Amino acid sequence: MTTPTGIDKIAFHIPAQYLNLAELARRDGTDPDKYHTGIGQTRFAVAAHDEDVVTLAASAAALILDDADKAAIDTVLLATESGIDQAKAAAIYVHQLLGLKPNCRAVELKQACYSATAGLQLACAHVARYPEKKVLLIASDIARYDLQTPGEATQGAAAVAMLISAQPRIAVLEGDSGCHTADVMDFWRPNHRSTPLVDGKLSTRTYIEAASAACADYLARGGLPFAAFAQYCYHLPFNKMASKTHQRLCQQHGIAFDPAKLEPGLAYSRDIGNSYTASLYLSLCSALDARDDLGGKAIAMMSYGSGCVAEYFALRIQPGYRNHLHSASHRAQLDNRRALTLAEYQHLWQRPDSSGHPDITFPADDNAPRYRLLAIEKHERRYGYA
Ligand code: CAA
Repeated sequence: MTTPTGIDKIAFHIPAQYLNLAELARRDGTDPDKYHTGIGQTRFAVAAHDEDVVTLAASAAALILDDADKAAIDTVLLATESGIDQAKAAAIYVHQLLGLKPNCRAVELKQACYSATAGLQLACAHVARYPEKKVLLIASDIARYDLQTPGEATQGAAAVAMLISAQPRIAVLEGDSGCHTADVMDFWRPNHRSTPLVDGKLSTRTYIEAASAACADYLARGGLPFAAFAQYCYHLPFNKMASKTHQRLCQQHGIAFDPAKLEPGLAYSRDIGNSYTASLYLSLCSALDARDDLGGKAIAMMSYGSGCVAEYFALRIQPGYRNHLHSASHRAQLDNRRALTLAEYQHLWQRPDSSGHPDITFPADDNAPRYRLLAIEKHERRYGYA
């Protein structure tokens, strides 16, 4: 009998401001329905200049950790595709900001939007071997595309922090996964670029093909039948991508499409936008917060990262899971955000570039208590909490 392992705690942190997609539609003379109906999005979160994947990650993790967790954590895994350094792991800054003990490993994981799922697998294998240990797994990203490109409407930002343990109280990782890897140039970001290169149409086709292949592999490895799940969660570059993929998979597996098993997972993403590595786990938060009937039931998780890797797997939700959710904090963060004007958004979109200016200080852009990037001095990032 193997030790049950999985998600013991989970919470997200998002920036305190957003852009309404109607503003983008007005700027470009686009019908807002293209965004609201065509891609299924309403708003996207916009990171402040004193926010990056480290501050988002530390702020999310601070919501879930107590002193006992900090004493048990011996591994920090930070998944991101918008990292702030080519060598040093963002996980090290987060480890320091949270005051974790030094006899701990810390590493950054990369494979586009997929890598948090690799982190979940690594973390579960680790706590199965050492059931008294815990792993802090954080998915943190700021999704940015060039202005006035088709991707611009699908930006966003968020971090989801998870405490991975044996005997978890929220969700057990159940059985084998189905996987699919193929070398495809659908979305990538060479080292010299701060925004990705993307072939949007190819990326949507590749996403559906990879999801279908990973799901077929999952079933071939003896996974639960496609119809056995109470909820389906997908990586969410934009909501319509999940609806289309789920409808295709339902068709392939001969079951009727039931929106009630998909849409609870889409609510947060509609107002936050793409959060790359975090988005599948944001969908999980959305479903767990929206539904109260998932105890004992299985959720299907479809993870996708361009380039590409897909993984299809099952989480078994634990009885009493609702007592351990952070739904009130999630709601408060969404309700307390400020709408940006177009000019404010375009100012924030231009991220400070420290390459030609080794010393920059960052005034606080909002009043939300959180971790902040205070300054970059001689190319070294200084963080604090305010
Ligand atoms: N009313 C209602 N619907 C409308 C409309 C209107 N007035 N105008 C257009 N639409 C519909 C279109 O018919 C289309 O629907 P279908 O796909 O069902 O045909 C939808 O709105 C989008 O319209 P377009 O296809 O014309 O949109 P676009 O080409 O301008 O942009 C996109 C779409 C290429 C996906 C673009 O958003 C993009 O490049 N995004 C970034 C890449 C991305 O997110 N890819 C997803 C898969 S890759 C991945 O998942 C990894 C990741 O996170 C990036």
